[in-house]
Amino acid sequence: SAEIIVSDALLEWYDRHAREMPWRIGPADRAAGMRPDPYRVWLSEVMLQQTTVAAVRDYFLRFTTRWPTVQALAAAPDEQVMGEWAGLGYYARARNLLKCARAVTQNYDGRFPDSFEALLNLPGIGPYTAAAISAIAFDRPETVLDGNVERVMARLHDIHDPLPGSKPLLKEKASALTPAIRPGDYAQAVMDLGATICTPKSPACGICPLRDPCQSRVAGTQTDLPRKTPK
Ligand code: ADE
Repeated sequence: SAEIIVSDALLEWYDRHAREMPWRIGPADRAAGMRPDPYRVWLSEVMLQQTTVAAVRDYFLRFTTRWPTVQALAAAPDEQVMGEWAGLGYYARARNLLKCARAVTQNYDGRFPDSFEALLNLPGIGPYTAAAISAIAFDRPETVLDGNVERVMARLHDIHDPLPGSKPLLKEKASALTPAIRPGDYAQAVMDLGATICTPKSPACGICPLRDPCQSRVAGTQTDLPRKTPK
């Protein structure tokens, strides 16, 4: 089907071009069926809300060196965690981080639950983070919709309805493309494509793995999309 052609092209591209990040595992481990540590996926996704990958990297390495497990983080004094968080901003996120670490330690024996619903009930975990952890750490077919994914979907399907009203439609499109095999890698492949190829101002359509099926490339509307309702 058309969906499989798109997700296969994305996964093949991801195998060759996935960005290296300290919370990811390498291609050989992925091919061997391994998954990244849910604690590291959770910590990275919380840090990445409103903060760039480049800015998060060093914070992530300091946190995981000092607290290698969710139990270790749960046992840390509040002041130490707030001190390591300093500079990342949005301090409510750090308070919820500790609450969540303590809930996972006390209620789940230190093992993150794998389902979207259970994750959503944890402190500081909203729909985006619950879907990201479920897909990336547990390879569940959840749909991860962030700004990068919205842009890729709007362009691929040449959707001109403006954000935020178009979110449900864009989510439907992202969901229809989510493959039964490797949904976690697919989720990260779309995010990486949006961050490196399908960029807001000058997309590199010539080297895009989706250049053939991309409807906005046919129409020449790439840089007009996604449209946004004026504030
Ligand atoms: N932005 C937020 N989470 C990400 C991830 N797992 N991969 C790439 N970009 C991201």
